[in-house]
Amino acid sequence: MRDDTSDLSWDDWDELNDPRPDVSDFDAVVEEAISRRGFLGGVLAFGSGAAVMGTGSLLSTTSAEAATMSRFAFTPIGIQTDSTVHVPEGYSWKSVAKWGQPLFSDAPEFDHSTGGDVVSSARVFGENTDGMELFSVGKHQVIAVNHEYVNTKTNLPNNEGGVPTSADDVRKLQNLQGVTVMEVAEGDDGWDIVVDSPFNRRIDHNTPMRIAGPAAGHDMLKTSADPDGLLALGTMNNCGAGKTPWGTYLTCEENFNGYFGSTDDTLERTDGWKRYGVGLKGRYAYETFDPRYDLSQNPNEPNRFGYIVEIDPADPNSTPVKRTALGRFKHENAACVVAPNGQIVVYMGDDERGEFMYKFVSTGVYQPGGDTDNLLDEGSLYAAKFNADGTGEWVELTPEATGMDAIDITVHTRMAASAVGATTMDRPEWVAVNPIAAEGYCCLTNNKNRGVKPNAGGDDTSVNGPNPRETNNYGQIVRWFPANDDHATDAFRWDLYVMAGNPIVGEGAYKGSSNVNAGNLFNSPDGMMFDSSGLLWIQTDGNDSNEGEYEGMGNNQMLAGDPVTGEIVRFLTGPQGSEVTGVTWSSDRRTMFVGIQHPAAPFPDGEGKLARSTVIAVKRDDNGLVG
Ligand code: FEO
Ligand code: CA
Ligand code: CA
Repeated sequence: MRDDTSDLSWDDWDELNDPRPDVSDFDAVVEEAISRRGFLGGVLAFGSGAAVMGTGSLLSTTSAEAATMSRFAFTPIGIQTDSTVHVPEGYSWKSVAKWGQPLFSDAPEFDHSTGGDVVSSARVFGENTDGMELFSVGKHQVIAVNHEYVNTKTNLPNNEGGVPTSADDVRKLQNLQGVTVMEVAEGDDGWDIVVDSPFNRRIDHNTPMRIAGPAAGHDMLKTSADPDGLLALGTMNNCGAGKTPWGTYLTCEENFNGYFGSTDDTLERTDGWKRYGVGLKGRYAYETFDPRYDLSQNPNEPNRFGYIVEIDPADPNSTPVKRTALGRFKHENAACVVAPNGQIVVYMGDDERGEFMYKFVSTGVYQPGGDTDNLLDEGSLYAAKFNADGTGEWVELTPEATGMDAIDITVHTRMAASAVGATTMDRPEWVAVNPIAAEGYCCLTNNKNRGVKPNAGGDDTSVNGPNPRETNNYGQIVRWFPANDDHATDAFRWDLYVMAGNPIVGEGAYKGSSNVNAGNLFNSPDGMMFDSSGLLWIQTDGNDSNEGEYEGMGNNQMLAGDPVTGEIVRFLTGPQGSEVTGVTWSSDRRTMFVGIQHPAAPFPDGEGKLARSTVIAVKRDDNGLVG
């Protein structure tokens, strides 16, 4: 019987396998941070309303001015601790797609006594809904949506401790992850899946994918089943997402390391495995029942994951493509923007304590209607370096700068970023780019190791400019302003849009910035997306105990932020136990689709039923615009 680690976060699971040494001296790092920039002192003053943001734009606005400038078309709601979803007065919500809901008429209705069998698991909406994007394909509305990981006790309800005990169990778990592409339509009863739509498709841990870009065909990507290193099977741990200007979906492989293990426990771990947390014991026992995940038989298989995968939602027969040029790490999401000269810029985060932020800039330029097949295969990869004085630089990861060859930079990108001294961050989650201003935002969700332990590569993680609090359990959102309003340039200025905190029970910097107040408390910002009007929607994946340092924060939630005034207000609360993650809009913006991941029972089907991750549709009762 395996230890029960099913309730651990991915970061805690990683550290269970690879404990990090305690190295830092608190007082010394705090002292250093204060003297270096005075920023932490500024943060301390946030609670009293002092102006300290890098641009001054946020805090130079008084609350009275902010109120008259408010752009929010709803009355903010209070916190909740119950088992359902809440939205503002004048809005309502409805379930659209739940784990196990048929995409095809040959799949049976969901069976709460079994969670579905292995055959049906490939024909239904998967588990743990996460990043998503809606595409208009002719008159059809097609949503591509990620299924990040599984909740084994819920998905295998008849297995002791949810532990897989057969190849069928493992295959069922594999089928419930990956990506769903589904057509949705609004009828008299609201939005629903269009069952049997020709667009409907499941992509899972066994779907063939073309490997493209610099690492395609390299020895590190060759396996016995694929001696050319050009065709991988599956995409996994699909977390956040992105959308290209040419209408394809980008799905991001995050905690891929946890799926591998070894049936030979004497196997020596390579440096590459250690840097990425690939260990000898997988999280879901795949290695026991599926030799592809057994490192002792297929040591290169992990090198085929940790990428961004491009999917054409309009063509259900298309082969997804792994774009290795965008680097290999725990990809959170992908924020795509076109630079003034037509180059494609993709901002990306590596979600692990003390890892980095990245940017890809294409060599070629995008021309609407032109050939985009190779645009994401050739370009430059950069890691972010934030200076304490409010400036920063995207440092290109070249052989000269890193001492690594070009392919190794692609496959072991973390090591390349460490080599150039990129800034260690408090777990970069989603990146979002403002559609009406030249600025990017990244959620730094939390990092209890800040100032306490190095990252997985041994890099020092003392407090620094955008990560100014040791033992940071609340998180913050950093934003940057590229020089010349051009996302393809190397130089930027930066500030903090918000530092989450608790002005009621917190001390000093842990009170949060001045745009955090008793009415909008939250912790651990994670999902984040701008709507087309330039409002910033922030989703949380944090501690929902509503106790101690989290008192007054309630369940995980979704807030709206005004990037100009800094005002942040609560729009939606999720059911107890859930993370709110993933948001997209119908083509007319009258519906907002929101993801509710891993709720606790009884959401959404009631007492005695299995809990089901669910995509909901949120509408205004007057059918007005929602964002
Ligand atoms: Fe899958 Fe970093 O959230
Ligand atoms: Ca996330
Ligand atoms: Ca998270």
